[in-house]
Parts: sequence; C-alpha cells; structure tokens
Amino acid sequence: MSADFAARYGKVALIAGASSGLGAEFARQLAARGLDLVLLARRAELLDSLAVELREAHKVDVRTFAVDLGAPDLLDRVRAATAGLEVGLVVYNAAHSLIGPFLEQSLADKLRIIDVNCRGPLTLADEFGRIMAARGKGGLLLMASMAAAQGSPLVATYAASKAFDLVLAEGLWEELGKHGVDVLACRAGATRTPNYEASRPSGRVPIMEPAAVVRRALDSLGKRPSVVPGFVNRLGDLFMTRLLSRRAAIVFMGKTTRRLYSR
Ligand SMILES: NC(=O)c1ccc[n+]([C@@H]2O[C@H](COP(=O)([O-])OP(=O)(O)OC[C@H]3O[C@@H](n4cnc5c(N)ncnc54)[C@H](OP(=O)(O)O)[C@@H]3O)[C@@H](O)[C@H]2O)c1
Repeated sequence: MSADFAARYGKVALIAGASSGLGAEFARQLAARGLDLVLLARRAELLDSLAVELREAHKVDVRTFAVDLGAPDLLDRVRAATAGLEVGLVVYNAAHSLIGPFLEQSLADKLRIIDVNCRGPLTLADEFGRIMAARGKGGLLLMASMAAAQGSPLVATYAASKAFDLVLAEGLWEELGKHGVDVLACRAGATRTPNYEASRPSGRVPIMEPAAVVRRALDSLGKRPSVVPGFVNRLGDLFMTRLLSRRAAIVFMGKTTRRLYSR
C-alpha cells in the first residue's frame, strides 16, 4: 500500500505548517509511506529536529525552510524551496486562528487569518495544481475543519476561512480530478495538538489524536472530496448539517464555543 501511495503521490510531499501537531504527524506518516519531504513553518529549530528524526527512521530526504505562509512573498519562497523537485503531494496544514468576540479582535489579525488560511492554500493550489495537472497525477490536501459547515460565533473569521478551504477543495476535487490530481479537504474535529491545547478549552468535546486524523485523511485521498475523521465527529456532523436547521446549527455552535471557552 505504501508503494502504491508513493507511486501516486511521490516523489516529494510539501507540507505547509509542519513543525508541530497535525503538520508534524503528516510528515511522520508520509515519511513512513516512503515520500521525501519539504517542510515549511516559522520555527526552524522544530523543523530541523523533526527532519533529523525522519531521516534516521525512514531513510528519506527531508528539507526544511523557515517560511511565514502569510507573507506576500510566499510563492517566491515556495518556488525556491522546491526548485528541481518532483512535488507530488501538497498538504496545507497551517492555520491562524482567533477565539473571542469579533469586535474585540483587530482587523489586522482577521486579515492575517485570510492570508494564512485562504491566500496561502489558494497560492499553493494554483502553483502545484498546474504542475500536477500537466504531469497527470498528484494530490492536494487542505486542512479544513468541522467549523466550516456553518457560521460559528466567537470564531467567525476562522470558520469562514475554513469554509473557503472546504469549498475550494471540493471544486478542485472535480476540476483537477479530471487531470489525475486528487484533492481532499479534511474536516477535522477537535484534535489534541499543541495549538489546540494552548487555546485552553475548558468544556468537554470528543477529542482525537493527530495520528488517527492524519491516517484517515491520507487514506481518504483520491476516494472522496472531503472527510470527517472519527465516528463520533461524523455523527456530530450529521446532526449539525442534516438534523438542525442552519439557523439552529449556528446558535448551537455559539453555545458550544462559549461553554468551551468560558473562563
Ligand atoms: N487541532 C484542532 O483541534 C483542529 C480542529 C479542526 C481543524 N484543525 C485544522 O488543522 C490544522 C492544524 O491544526 P493545529 O492548529 O491544531 O495545528 P498544528 O498542526 O499543531 O500547528 C500548525 C502548524 O502550522 C504552522 N503555522 C502556523 N502559522 C504559520 C505561518 N504563518 N507560517 C508558517 N507556518 C505556520 C505552525 O508552525 P510555526 O508556528 O512553527 O510556524 C505549525 O507547524 C489547521 O488548519 C486547523 O485549522 C485543527
């Protein structure tokens, strides 16, 4: 199965936002499936120690680049990092998120969400979509969120950015699929990552480990336009999107988020 995966999505996977949590787990599982890696994030020391671990464990080539995915020169930086490499898979994992009342957040911070969560994946989809379509194979995996399904009070801008990722991936699944390029949005629920834990949630929601989320996402690539990892999350998704009206789902999200982040 690893050989099939590497033949379809090798030789190199580019992971945008690879220094911790889900991003580092994508790196581990893709290295285990035999792909060489280009890892991007801002914290170079974390990327470098992950690279040492993966070269030793899996005998793959790993290159690291300290890049701010929200910066205007993103495309130039990515082209420099991948020059001469056959990138067969792009995982856009990074996200910027803000939790709290919309009116208490600065516009600059909200626009940074758009830069990192929307402009970044769109830029990489444009660049590598063309390259992969010309080659007739490849994969593009965007990390969306269950929050993408409806408006979400207290995370309104973040949820809207994840809806962009979901809908972009769905459209490209059909369009690029005709050129042999598999596109997937991963609609993850709460996942135990350093970023999630740093947000200090205080209520109880079903939580998954990064390894299970990443395994499910990679196994779903080429099979469907999007995936919700985890049985309990899929039930929650059915409840929110099929049983509740859209209006009721928004109110439910507001109550859940307020309970989770009441200090
Ligand atoms: N964790 C959850 O509960 C959950 C739930 C639903 C969806 N998701 C989605 O899953 C993805 C990963 O989730 P997570 O936040 O928990 O993350 P994570 O994988 O622990 O960390 C995010 C990664 O993105 C990098 N990153 C963030 N901003 C960046 C920037 N401007 N430039 C370069 N790299 C950047 C971080 O590295 P540096 O800090 O080193 O730059 C880190 O490596 C996100 O897209 C998120 O929306 C997560």
